[in-house]
Amino acid sequence: TAQRLAEFLRREAEPAAAGSREAVAQQHARGKMTARERIAALLDPGSFVELDAMVRHRCHDFGMAENRPAGDGVVTGYGTVDDRQVFVFAQDFTVFGGSLGEMYGQKVVKVMDLALRTGCPVIGLNDSGGARIQEGVESLALYAEIVKRHVRASGVVPQISLVLGPCAGGAVYAPAITDVVVMVDGISHMFVTGPDVVRAVTGHAVSREELGGATGHNAVSGVAHYLARTEQEAFDFTRALLGYLPANNMAEPPHYPDPRGYGVADRADALDDVIPDDPRQPYDMTDVLTAVLDHGELLAIQPRFAPNIICGFGRIEGRSVGVVANQPLHGAGALDIGASEKAARFIRMCDAFHVPILTFVDVPGFLPSLEQERSGIIRRGAKLIYAYAEATVPMVTVITRKAYGGGYGVMGSKHLGTDVNLAWPTAEIAVMGGESAVGLLHRDRLRRSPEPERERERLRTEYQDALCHPYVAAERGYVDAVIRPRDTRAHVAAALRMLRTKRAPAVTRKHGNIPL
Ligand code: COA
Repeated sequence: TAQRLAEFLRREAEPAAAGSREAVAQQHARGKMTARERIAALLDPGSFVELDAMVRHRCHDFGMAENRPAGDGVVTGYGTVDDRQVFVFAQDFTVFGGSLGEMYGQKVVKVMDLALRTGCPVIGLNDSGGARIQEGVESLALYAEIVKRHVRASGVVPQISLVLGPCAGGAVYAPAITDVVVMVDGISHMFVTGPDVVRAVTGHAVSREELGGATGHNAVSGVAHYLARTEQEAFDFTRALLGYLPANNMAEPPHYPDPRGYGVADRADALDDVIPDDPRQPYDMTDVLTAVLDHGELLAIQPRFAPNIICGFGRIEGRSVGVVANQPLHGAGALDIGASEKAARFIRMCDAFHVPILTFVDVPGFLPSLEQERSGIIRRGAKLIYAYAEATVPMVTVITRKAYGGGYGVMGSKHLGTDVNLAWPTAEIAVMGGESAVGLLHRDRLRRSPEPERERERLRTEYQDALCHPYVAAERGYVDAVIRPRDTRAHVAAALRMLRTKRAPAVTRKHGNIPL
């Protein structure tokens, strides 16, 4: 028995030492944590339970039979974040460069299946050289098996991907399918074809960072949703994000009641003065959000991408809300392809996970541009309308200023199914602003006028008095109430409380056909 126990202890110690001392040193020298260090930093202390630590590959080619490290290059298991269960897989770059083989893939498949069976989030820590070259088609097969599971889990359990090293080739599509992708400045790289291939095919020399670094994917491509300065910051973001989401699509997001209040009263008064007198002058929409959300806190999703729209999670009276808000500080808050796709995906994530959607509107319309039309603003902007129209979670919209033209309809209007629509007295709900309307309606008159500038001003005032306010919409019931800005939180909170029992009728169809 003693012999058996000794054998067990020897084997038990093996997985933690699977990566050579040199590989671990190199990992640290690159400013990266090891897979096990990452899991320890992400999960509640001592909560991790490892699975399949003794799994080994069964490849015999290329001398692999003599090199069969325990765990096969990926650490998998479950643990808790704020006492809530999650499943984790962490690719271990110190073993075969974290490359994915058959048994490694089977380990990932196993935790994903368990997560789906138990209705718990899956967090993937990616740091890998891709498909394990020595194992050939076996590893390619497992990539597809994994992607299949990500798709099956989509909208059922939250899936978060942290890219903490290389993630290249076909391997990028597993994280790409998950709900949120987090990258860390300097150490994360994602590309379908790496710099060498790009240079060979196109002749252009491009660096790893330029091709697939964290900054580019956060600010330009929109592949990533959060740029962390350090790995620890990536873990903190992940933990905070999970706090807004339910464990699965059959559960409600967690509720964090605060008996001491929600720390907003002092910020609310300023809302009466937030809208500038000049309609062309921007203001910072985040000032509005911080005055409305619990403790002024917003966890922004994709803050660097399409900053003309803000998406993020906050809470009202301790319950999660997904905020979508035009940002007049960037491009006057006009909708473009980036903003439409960013907000559409966010709305669908909220809808899948029972997070009510709170929309703030100050939109001059869609961005007029040849480049936008050519790039498919019709097809791609349609995603935003589609997402709002199909969402069945409670929805509340507040119009702070402009709600012009197509922008009015798209941005959570009553007509798309929003439950409660509120407007500030400064709201301007019209087909277009006064300047453009007068130019179009009175072109001839202005041309003939002896004093065109004066005439233009008079006509503009006339148009604005007649149409650029919230009261026509309120007369029709398109907005349910015109409210004083400082009272916004109270109105929003009352609406969300009222909507808590909202039920969505099931639609009998396989699935819709959202324009992609
Ligand atoms: N299959 C098998 N082993 C791999 C591997 C893969 N796909 N990717 C990396 N490794 C191994 C390396 O051979 C090396 O092993 P060693 O320590 O025994 O020499 C170890 O992992 C570390 O890789 P290394 O190349 O030294 O690290 P790096 O940081 O300099 O480069 C990459 C990282 C990912 C850019 C580089 O490893 C690479 O280009 N890998 C291949 C990527 C690829 O084309 N994958 C298939 C497409 S899906």
